[in-house]
Amino acid sequence: MTALTLSTAAAPGLRADAIVVGVAKGSGSKGALVVAPGAESVDKAYDGKLASVLETLGATGGEGEVTKLPAPSGFKAPVVVAVGLGEVPEKDETYGADALRRAAGVAARALTGSKKAAFALPVEDAEDIGALAEGALLGAYSFTAYKDAGETKGKKNGKDAKAPLAEIALLGGKPRDKAYKAELERAVAVAEELNRARDLVNTPPNDLDPEAFAAVATAAAKEHGIKVQVLDEKALTKGGYGGILGVGAGSEAPPRLVKLSYTHSKAKKHLAFVGKGITYDSGGISLKPAGHNETMKCDMAGAAAVFAAVVAAARLGLEVNVTGWLALAENMPSGSATRPGDVLRMYSGKTVEVLNTDAEGRLVLADAIAKASEEQPDAIVDVATLTGAMMVALGNRTFGIMSNDDAFRTSVHEIAEEVGEASWPMPLLADLRKGMDSPTADIANIGDRMGGGLVAGLFLQEFVGEGIVWAHLDVAGPAFHEGAPYGYTPKGGTGSAVRTLVRLAERTAAGDLG
Ligand code: BES
Ligand code: MN
Ligand code: ZN
Repeated sequence: MTALTLSTAAAPGLRADAIVVGVAKGSGSKGALVVAPGAESVDKAYDGKLASVLETLGATGGEGEVTKLPAPSGFKAPVVVAVGLGEVPEKDETYGADALRRAAGVAARALTGSKKAAFALPVEDAEDIGALAEGALLGAYSFTAYKDAGETKGKKNGKDAKAPLAEIALLGGKPRDKAYKAELERAVAVAEELNRARDLVNTPPNDLDPEAFAAVATAAAKEHGIKVQVLDEKALTKGGYGGILGVGAGSEAPPRLVKLSYTHSKAKKHLAFVGKGITYDSGGISLKPAGHNETMKCDMAGAAAVFAAVVAAARLGLEVNVTGWLALAENMPSGSATRPGDVLRMYSGKTVEVLNTDAEGRLVLADAIAKASEEQPDAIVDVATLTGAMMVALGNRTFGIMSNDDAFRTSVHEIAEEVGEASWPMPLLADLRKGMDSPTADIANIGDRMGGGLVAGLFLQEFVGEGIVWAHLDVAGPAFHEGAPYGYTPKGGTGSAVRTLVRLAERTAAGDLG
């Protein structure tokens, strides 16, 4: 991954492939381009004409814009890259954390294939360094594991993918200041684990089945002092995990339930994170039509986010206990698959009539949520690529938050906003429950089509232990990005919800929540 350093050096003397500066859209009717703080010495070397040169080149300072120009004479670096920050902040305000993250991400991506860059972007405090570092590391990410096809019979098979930007010096960084160093370290830990979650999502399903995912989680847990327990199909049968077993029944690759326990001796609170980990969702016997299954390797993004968040919490040494539950199964059609019409006896003891095998996520989550409830955590948060209906409601960039506790739902929403993740609170409408009434079992796994995302939330709610605060994040939209990269969001797996979970753990450790 890209290496980051804090630097007090001045831009002109820096040995690098490029110096990155920030530009913004001026306010007022003129809307002139403005050079952002941090780039004063660069602007001076252009005789104070950087803004007008960039305007002549067509730059506006708009978000995501990249303009490359030759560095002024006397600079060791050959190129200056101007990256748009969007609107200039209001008077007495500074550039927001997410504007910095996005600009750093855009710049890092624009420099793919380069060795070293210096970022002369606005830095007012230590948190700004954290934002720039996080944005740069997330923006520099690309998934190339299957791109360089290597060699067969001495011949190169494909084009080698360009390597990500190797090194970034963050100017204005105060390398000897404790707060700055801490923010940098935090950003590196979170971004590394988030990028690992992206790798897991992007790994094709023939290489990542439940057993392989469990092995990755086990290895990482051992490395970071996290206790790990893997229930295989035998243990799941013995334990009565009818939901997880029912979903995995059609696959040659048996299901797993992974428990990751991070504990801190000074912890006063306990959080449980539960992730949907369908390593491939074909729909099962209720098979998805062509056009709906090509990206279904992403259906374990919730489990990947939970995994990343627990490891990040451990790396940060947070004073809170965090248990991660990865509910892993492959949803496939076969002679041994669960049929529409089958009744499953769930871990909680409830029976579920499976009317649609494509509504499988709620079945594996129900078992994991019921199991997680036994430890009476202070809160349970599940993360799942659960419903197409949530994408219809909120689009591709925003996750829905449902909860049995309005104050907790608000907290999660605010935390997501704070870390730069788009989310929106959604209601659990009681009248939708009767649509899941089953003539045969306690509940059916589908209900009304209208409000389908909320129906799924209501289903999960029935498996949350009495009196436990719970939130459900439906990340079906933002977990996997099919369009062109933007800001610090790449194509493919995005790491959605990781930063929200980590910040929730930090806030809980600090005693800021209930
Ligand atoms: N994994 C899908 C939801 C999904 C769809 C995630 C598109 C990401 C992109 C989930 O298992 C599913 O198939 N849900 C069904 C539920 C329905 C059968 C009640 C859906 O949303 O159509
Ligand atoms: Mn499905
Ligand atoms: Zn699914």
